[in-house]
Amino acid sequence: MDDLDSLRGRTLAAIAGASGEEALEQVRVAALGKKGEISLRMRELGRMSPEERRSAGPVLNALRDEIDAALRARRAALADAALEARLAAEWLDVTLPGRPRPRGTVHPVSQVTEEVTAIFADMGFAVAEGPQVESDWFNFDALNIPPEHPARQEHDTFFMARAEGDNRPPHVLRTHTSPVQIRAMQAHGAPLRVIAPGRVYRMDMDLTHTPMFHQVEGLAIDRDISMAQLKWTLEEFCRAFFEVDRVELRFRASHFPFTEPSAEVDLRCSWAGGQLKIGEGDDWLEILGSGMIHPRVLEAGGIDPARWQGFAFGMGIDRIAMLKYGIPDLRAFFESDLRWLRHYGFGPLSAPALHASLGG
Ligand code: PHE
Repeated sequence: MDDLDSLRGRTLAAIAGASGEEALEQVRVAALGKKGEISLRMRELGRMSPEERRSAGPVLNALRDEIDAALRARRAALADAALEARLAAEWLDVTLPGRPRPRGTVHPVSQVTEEVTAIFADMGFAVAEGPQVESDWFNFDALNIPPEHPARQEHDTFFMARAEGDNRPPHVLRTHTSPVQIRAMQAHGAPLRVIAPGRVYRMDMDLTHTPMFHQVEGLAIDRDISMAQLKWTLEEFCRAFFEVDRVELRFRASHFPFTEPSAEVDLRCSWAGGQLKIGEGDDWLEILGSGMIHPRVLEAGGIDPARWQGFAFGMGIDRIAMLKYGIPDLRAFFESDLRWLRHYGFGPLSAPALHASLGG
């Protein structure tokens, strides 16, 4: 029995001293494992006389139960301690003030796009969209710019890569928002009144050009649309956008393959004292291209040119943003400089006050 007492003492001490799961498992194997000390003694019971067994058996059973219980208790204690340690290590002071993130603003292009959309929405124009990676057909052919047309060269087009052996014309990054004219005609038919703001791409880069910029396309198709309505619409737009009562537009004869007749539109302004004033002075600012939609373009859009006419225009969003908010360099628009954004950007709530139709 002395022997058992010492085994009990040693084992319980080892259990109490086990520093982790693994050490504890070793103690268990040494005592209760197949070749453990308790298990070996259990096997010896078989070789004892019945009397010996009757006295030794219960003692051994009790010892095995005691050690087993001690192992379980220690294992639970170790798990608790591990959890405590984790909770202590991963403790988080939720009362600490947040770390300030770089604070952005609403980009002038977003702001102006909203303003333009709001003004045209008031005049009954819906917003249409098209893909920026556009097929050659939508970007050119459907707009009466066949493959050999010189206008194709003027567009400084970015072409998409083609799979080897694919001889179809490559897709392009749309060079203007005009392909959305065709998409909107095909989707909705006539009558139609839409604007299509979005990104366009041309291989060009200097003080006033970036390879990506923004345009807004405008399109009105009905039974008896004329240049007069185009002029009125653009004047109304300029008055609302530049927030001046008097605007004067000058229509200059021009050429676009997709309009006939075509006109570029200038806005009367003054640069006196280096400050731009719209509606007065003797200078003219070119702000957009426009015209009556060419019959072939209507046809490409699935609209019968014998029954319907329309006007279309395309305006540079970045350009009118620069004019309205006095921003000198176009390239800075797309450099993501937070200092620039803080200076020229808009608060999230300074949305255009032009939403006369909001809520009603
Ligand atoms: N798509 C023309 C351009 O990018 C602008 C335009 C649009 C002209 C619609 C006439 C009618 O220059």
